[in-house]
Amino acid sequence: MTTVKMTVNGQAVTRDVENRQLLVEVLRDGLGLTGTHQGCDTSQCGCCTVLVDGRAVKSCTMLAVQAEGCSVTTIEGLGSMQALHPIQQAFVDCHGLQCGFCTPGMIMTTAALLAETPEPDDDTIREALDGNLCRCTGYTNIVEAVRQASATMAGKSVARPR
Ligand code: FES
Ligand code: FES
Repeated sequence: MTTVKMTVNGQAVTRDVENRQLLVEVLRDGLGLTGTHQGCDTSQCGCCTVLVDGRAVKSCTMLAVQAEGCSVTTIEGLGSMQALHPIQQAFVDCHGLQCGFCTPGMIMTTAALLAETPEPDDDTIREALDGNLCRCTGYTNIVEAVRQASATMAGKSVARPR
């Protein structure tokens, strides 16, 4: 066992973890942050994506001990039921989800993208999301959602789809 200290969604966290434990396991099973989904465990689907020190990371590809001293943000740290983050609101408005299994990962990847590139074009959006798989929606509405989130966060008015 190793003691890991990290910041998760703004809160200081100390946990004893097994050296082989994945970050996604500690987030879900240790901290109860089940918004981070576990799909493939082989780095393909992207539904386990979280921010680690601001970078989008597939948390099934990272050992929890590697998060020592890091700041981790999960979907629970982005917005709340009462006040959705603009990216979350855009996914709702643009029908960017159906079953929602991929959605936390899509949103966290989008958060990292928009932090680095606030107004990406469609090619940039598609490239940023190419590690996130969705089995339901097709990707057109997801790209539309990222476009809307970008506009909202840049303070531009958006024509919301009905
Ligand atoms: S569970 Fe991590 S990429 Fe699929
Ligand atoms: S909304 Fe179902 S997998 Fe993407």
